[in-house]
Amino acid sequence: MLRMRFVARFVRSGIALLFSVLIVLSAQKPKSQQVERGREFLGLAPPPDAAAAARGEKTYAQACAFCHGVKANGAEGPNLVRSTVVLHDEKGEMIGSVIRNGRPERGMPAFPGFTAEQIYDIAEFLHSRVEAAANRYAYKVGNVITGDSKAGEKFFQTAGRCAGCHSTRGDLAHVAARYEPVDLQAEFLYPSKSPPIEVTVTEHSGQSISGKLKRIDDFSVSLWDQDGTYHSWPRDAVTVVMKDPLSAHRELLDRYTNEDMHNVLAYLETLK
Ligand code: HEC
Ligand code: HEC
Repeated sequence: MLRMRFVARFVRSGIALLFSVLIVLSAQKPKSQQVERGREFLGLAPPPDAAAAARGEKTYAQACAFCHGVKANGAEGPNLVRSTVVLHDEKGEMIGSVIRNGRPERGMPAFPGFTAEQIYDIAEFLHSRVEAAANRYAYKVGNVITGDSKAGEKFFQTAGRCAGCHSTRGDLAHVAARYEPVDLQAEFLYPSKSPPIEVTVTEHSGQSISGKLKRIDDFSVSLWDQDGTYHSWPRDAVTVVMKDPLSAHRELLDRYTNEDMHNVLAYLETLK
């Protein structure tokens, strides 16, 4: 079964490439539509449901990215793009059982609260990551950039408050040249790189020290202060306040509509 899938995928990428070339030549209809119609016509597996994948990406960024990586290619937890569970899954039935039950003894928590729809959406997102990895060229001409860049720019400057932390002439200049569209979407939803977490540790005496977090767990907390001096305390001897530089991105996940997401991506894509 797995081998068949790989073969199908291999064939599919060849065919998608062919279609992409035809599209460049003909180009009277929206590109993605032609790729999809071509696949259906040939009786191949349907491409992931883009709307579901976009919803799933948000849920994934909140609940899973921390362990499995923003792009699902692994972090603390395993790479899901190469996972046999994900490769064999059709519509969330296998992924769903892992999500609902977890594998607590091996570090994968259970998420019993997800609805069938949320699981389907996450599964479609993971399938879209597999497709993206297997078939970069088709994704370039594919259906990722559907938003309105002007509306995206407005969101960037106003409701999204992106401009408060980023500059399109500074840190985000040419950002679209650094990432493929599908990766750029993953990066702005939940950035894979983060500056250090700012932490303030207050001893029971009332004295406090701030700096960059080195490590925190149930037993101890440690930091480097402004001069680069290392400090460490038993966890129960202090109170700890942390400022996560990505908290704004985390909060944005609750606020974006699908439309905002597509518009922002379309805008960021203008920053070549
Ligand atoms: C706290 C870390 C953590 C979080 C959060 C987490 N996972 Fe996992 N996940 C793991 C670990 C570790 C494994 C490997 C377990 C094992 O060895 O069987 C795993 C395994 C899996 C597998 C099976 C992979 C395979 O091929 O066997 C899937 C699918 C999966 N996770 C999906 C998800 C999804 C979807 C979410 C979010 C809803 C999520 N995980 C959240 C740590 C995590
Ligand atoms: C409160 C500050 C803050 C806000 C608001 C914010 N970001 Fe970020 N963003 C960060 C930080 C911190 C990082 C991670 C490290 C870095 O690239 O500076 C980051 C990373 C990114 C990256 C990855 C950049 C790269 O080079 O890899 C993109 C793209 C991005 N943000 C887009 C956005 C967009 C779009 C918005 C608004 C919808 C937004 N950010 C809002 C702080 C913020």
